[in-house]
Amino acid sequence: MFSPENIRDDFPIIKTGELVYLDNAATTQKPSCVINSICEYYEKYNANVHRSNYSLAEKATENYERARKKIANFLGVEEDRIIFTRGATEAINLVAYSIFLGGLLQPGDKMAVTIAEHHSNFVPWQQLCKKFEVEMRIVDTTDEGYIPIESFTEVMDEGIKLLAFTGMSNSLGVVMPYHEVCKAAREREILTVLDGAQLVPHHRVKVDEIGCDFLAFSGHKILGPMGIGVLCGRRDILEKLPPFMYGGEMIDKVTIEETTFNVLPYKFEAGTPNVEGAIGLAKAIEYVENIEWNDAVKHVMSLTKRLLEGLASIEFVEIYGPGDDRQHSIVSFNVKGLHPHDVAQYLSSRKIAVRSGHHCAQPQLRRLGIKASCRASLYIYNTKDDVDRLLRALEEIVTVFPWVMRNE
Ligand SMILES: Cc1ncc(COP(=O)(O)O)c(C=O)c1O
Repeated sequence: MFSPENIRDDFPIIKTGELVYLDNAATTQKPSCVINSICEYYEKYNANVHRSNYSLAEKATENYERARKKIANFLGVEEDRIIFTRGATEAINLVAYSIFLGGLLQPGDKMAVTIAEHHSNFVPWQQLCKKFEVEMRIVDTTDEGYIPIESFTEVMDEGIKLLAFTGMSNSLGVVMPYHEVCKAAREREILTVLDGAQLVPHHRVKVDEIGCDFLAFSGHKILGPMGIGVLCGRRDILEKLPPFMYGGEMIDKVTIEETTFNVLPYKFEAGTPNVEGAIGLAKAIEYVENIEWNDAVKHVMSLTKRLLEGLASIEFVEIYGPGDDRQHSIVSFNVKGLHPHDVAQYLSSRKIAVRSGHHCAQPQLRRLGIKASCRASLYIYNTKDDVDRLLRALEEIVTVFPWVMRNE
């Protein structure tokens, strides 16, 4: 039986009970098994990978490649389609640069992103479109931050060649109809880049069932270490694309005149990789696979509902997003009359961690007519008590800022 209380014991920062940690969309806490796997790597088999044939180096290589296999199985793909990156940001930059450099998008072409994107799935496309004279179309959200399939297909039918979109928005936690979007795009031979940074930690993502051409995510948002992420792609396209970075390990033969490149996935992994990151991420995936996942998801959804309902009952709190089950684990809100930074600072004084600001999603916040918000984001180790402590603290904020109630 899934029990958040048992889960909490596995997380050194959580089990102290000192902090209500509600900033999981920024990064999750790490279970001891992940921390230990990193220590074990450095204590017992630290060596560079794919370069040497002494036993220490062979062990490091073996574990690094085993980590790739674990992640490939998790996503339901073959290992050579898993490219390790520093995170979702680097994965998206990698695929975007390679697509432009490889001529898959050319001057005069059109591509699209949505207004709900994190900057890391917006700015790379925007900047490269400007440089290569490609037109960037925008798929708009509803006033609540959701994007129905019809809004996607409308833009698809404007002749775009590529669509980059998030499966779950980081500012509002809205889950987009990503299965239908990828299906509609494939029917129209439009390439899809799915930003899974928020989706992968909360949904069982099987890349080929979804039918996206590329998926990017970060390890640190799914209990893994920082500095490791994944780009998973369609093999036939990856084989065609030129590398984004050049250097060691990604080559086949180098002469003064020419270089030929390594096979997949190494063609896209220039330089010494983050070996301990890959090993730690594989451990995190193993951890996630060993818990009763469906119950864990139900638990997070029920906490989201509790939080949404509780916030809705506080008259001086304004909530953003649809407020129904399209919203997963993330709730953005403001206390009327207060700057979100002041609210977050006050909550910190009550030992509650939430994020405040624009959440690296300025176009989405501007679309909502706000500059910033507070964002509470939940994960599997959060409890009803965490949610209630946040709600209680917000109700009591009027004792510190009495003008909130007077609506000044
Ligand atoms: C939806 C989304 N995409 C991309 C990113 C970028 O992830 P990272 O900073 O780990 O590269 C984030 C991070 O918050 C995100 O929420």
